[in-house]
This record gives sequence, structure tokens and C-alpha cells, in this order.
Amino acid sequence: MKYTIEILRQKSPADKAYRQTFVIETELKNATVATALSMLNMQDPMLDIEGKESDRIVWECSCLQKKCGACAMVINGRPQLACDARLSEQKGDKIVVEPLKKFPVVADLTVDRSILFENLKTISAWLVSGTRASESKNDILYRSSLCLQCGCCLEVCPNFFSGGEFFGMASMIPVARLLEEMPDEEKKKLRKQYSKHIFGGCGKSLSCQNICPAGINIEELMVNSNAISLWKGIFKKIFK
Ligand code: SF4
Ligand code: SF4
Ligand code: FES
Repeated sequence: MKYTIEILRQKSPADKAYRQTFVIETELKNATVATALSMLNMQDPMLDIEGKESDRIVWECSCLQKKCGACAMVINGRPQLACDARLSEQKGDKIVVEPLKKFPVVADLTVDRSILFENLKTISAWLVSGTRASESKNDILYRSSLCLQCGCCLEVCPNFFSGGEFFGMASMIPVARLLEEMPDEEKKKLRKQYSKHIFGGCGKSLSCQNICPAGINIEELMVNSNAISLWKGIFKKIFK
């Protein structure tokens, strides 16, 4: 099969973005966008559709098994993992590959997602001593641990922008398990941060729900976290 792939490229943050189109041929039925990018980068010389010699495409990957989130990018308008996006399943005459737009571009398809970790640091989303995991909460703890920090949910979220006060679901998912496990005093601090950086800014439209490549049921975890962080406290005050 022959595939035409258009890539939005940028040499460095200071350079202008431009589009470049390539053609690859592969008989691999399961070939993905990650396969295509690797094949292109292995060409010597690497030629675009016009036969012009090109620089190697800068992109990130690690596991190639939907486990690390490093290869998240926008493919035909949808944020997804390049190692999970089969070429044969993409619609249209050509496959358009772009970097995630909510983060600064480092080069080509590589973006700087360090804000995700800065946000987790701001809300102190880490385990502290005295944390206890209860067996009855295993399901929530497991589902929350599936988050890849890929940023796909943030790409489609109308309320998230890098450096803003609203941290989005990439912060909510890891916090969902901590809200279940933390000792009470720590939980109190985390609930405050949750209200400020997650609950307050979320429009609950759930555009993020179907985009998550890890298949996390965002709605269920959000309902649970909202209940722990806000509603239980409010009801306690009303009915005390
Ligand atoms: S529910 Fe809507 S506003 Fe909230 S994180 Fe998802 S996309 Fe963003
Ligand atoms: S919730 Fe899903 S889409 Fe969002 S960062 Fe985690 S794995 Fe990625
Ligand atoms: S390379 Fe790890 S998720 Fe794609």
C-alpha cells in the first residue's frame, strides 16, 4: 500500500512552521503512523514527494505499545498515539500529521509537555507517608494509574491552555487515586487544590472522554473525585 503523509514541521521554536509531504510504501497490515515516521527517517537520503532531500523528522517514542504516551500527536485532526494510529484506518487521500497544539513545539512533532508535571507539582500530587490503599478502592486506583500523561485530553479541552489555572484531566486522573488514599490532613490540602485547579475550570462537557487513548472512563473518575472533594463536605455542612 502507498500512503501520502503531510507533516507540519518546524526546525526549532524560533523557526517558521511549514508543511512537507512524503510518500511511503509498505505491505505491513498493522503499519502505524509511528512505523511510517520510522521508515521515512531510515531512508538515505530522505526524500519528500518532490524528490527534495529533507532533514530527519523529529518525533518522540519509547514503548511503541500504547504504554508511555510519548508519541501523542494530531493525526488527521484527532489527537492520538502515533504507535496506535494504523495507516489503513486513516480516512482521506492523505494522512496529515501535526504536533499537539496546546504545548510549545520543540521541533517538528516533538512538543514540550513539562507543564503537565509542573501542574502535578503545584497541586502536590504525590504519595505521602501514612497513605493507605484500601482493597475496596482497587478499581479506582487501577483506572487512575492508567493515565499516560500524553496530553490528548487537553488538546480537545476548550478550557485548558498551557500555564492557565485550569489543569484539566491529565491532572484529575492521577489525583483521583490520591483522593482515595491520602490521610485526612493531606486530603484536605489536596481537595482545596482540586477545587481550584480542576473542578472550578471544568465545563463538564466531556469532550475529553472519548479521546483518551488509555480508554480511561474520565466521567466516572471525575464524579468520584468531585464527590470526595466537594459534595461530601457540602452535604455534611447542610445536614450536620
Ligand atoms: S469535561 Fe470538558 S472542560 Fe472538563 S476537562 Fe473534559 S473537555 Fe475539558
Ligand atoms: S487522561 Fe487519557 S488522554 Fe488525558 S493524559 Fe491521561 S491518558 Fe492521556
Ligand atoms: S511510543 Fe509509547 S505510547 Fe506510543
